[in-house]
Amino acid sequence: DWTPAAFVQETVAKIKAQVGDKRVVMALSGGVDSTVAAELIHKAIGKNLFCIFVDNGLLRKDEYTTVLESYKHMGLNVKGVNAQDLFYGQLAGVSDPEQKRKVIGRLFIEVFQQESTQLTDISFLGQGTIYPDVIESVSVNGPSVTIKSHHNVGGLPEKMNMQLVEPLRFLFKDEVRRVGREIGISEVFLGRHPFPGPGLAIRILGAITPEKVNMLQEADAVYVEGLKEAGLYDKVWQAGTILLPVQSVGVMGDERTYEFTVALRAVTSVDGMTADWAHLPYEFLAKMSNDIINKVKGINRVVYDISSKPPATIEWE
Ligand code: XMP
Repeated sequence: DWTPAAFVQETVAKIKAQVGDKRVVMALSGGVDSTVAAELIHKAIGKNLFCIFVDNGLLRKDEYTTVLESYKHMGLNVKGVNAQDLFYGQLAGVSDPEQKRKVIGRLFIEVFQQESTQLTDISFLGQGTIYPDVIESVSVNGPSVTIKSHHNVGGLPEKMNMQLVEPLRFLFKDEVRRVGREIGISEVFLGRHPFPGPGLAIRILGAITPEKVNMLQEADAVYVEGLKEAGLYDKVWQAGTILLPVQSVGVMGDERTYEFTVALRAVTSVDGMTADWAHLPYEFLAKMSNDIINKVKGINRVVYDISSKPPATIEWE
């Protein structure tokens, strides 16, 4: 019978045997998989695990600082890299969704490689690959591979000529969570909604500017906080805000406004492959609309996405 405790014991022993006294480098994303994988490797080899956490400027509000703090608190040997300007610069004027993903994936690899080459004697690359990722990668060339390419830091192993350490390779998501719980990882990490590798870039329709990222971060923070306060966060599989590339007329006091629209998205799902729009209470939606419009400068209209997948997707890009 599979138990998290036995898995942890066995896996830590295996990592010790595989890595010995050599060094491992690994990228952290703030998500469940990379966090649990890192903590397992850390249990096995301690300070010989070197983690890199990149701020691509496309994370949720305050995410970079709070997650980096948590990683340090967990005792991980982690370096935060602020690469916001690099990402914003290269994304300027890029409005095609797949192009955005390509730019972000390429820059991520560049930053990660540059940081890793500053570390000496690295022999292994740690990754939070889980079983569904393995299956998807086998059915090569399907759209899913493109979708997940950044997430799984695709292309890194070949380019960096390193052996892989993938402790979660045969686990499903719920098992990863159980293992995480077993080794004392905070529920804040374990209960998090999935968040796409390209981050807010694919939730800003059209070209990205730092101002738009900022606007969306604020709206998103109001929404996520609101979901938590209302006890709805754990009831949906994923939620977020999307900044639409349209401005519309509104009125504020005696003034006519001409500002942006934000769409709220929340879905229920088992694995993200299919999803239903979440039937959030009207009162909650009303409060979110008021709060976002009152608190976030530049937004004067909020709409709710009532499309399911298929035929819509969860993200808008
Ligand atoms: P869609 O929009 O395809 O999303 O219904 C399904 C799930 O995948 C996430 N997603 C991504 N994750 N890189 C990622 O790491 C991507 O490019 C990407 N695109 C979508 C999405 O957030 C949802 O959880």
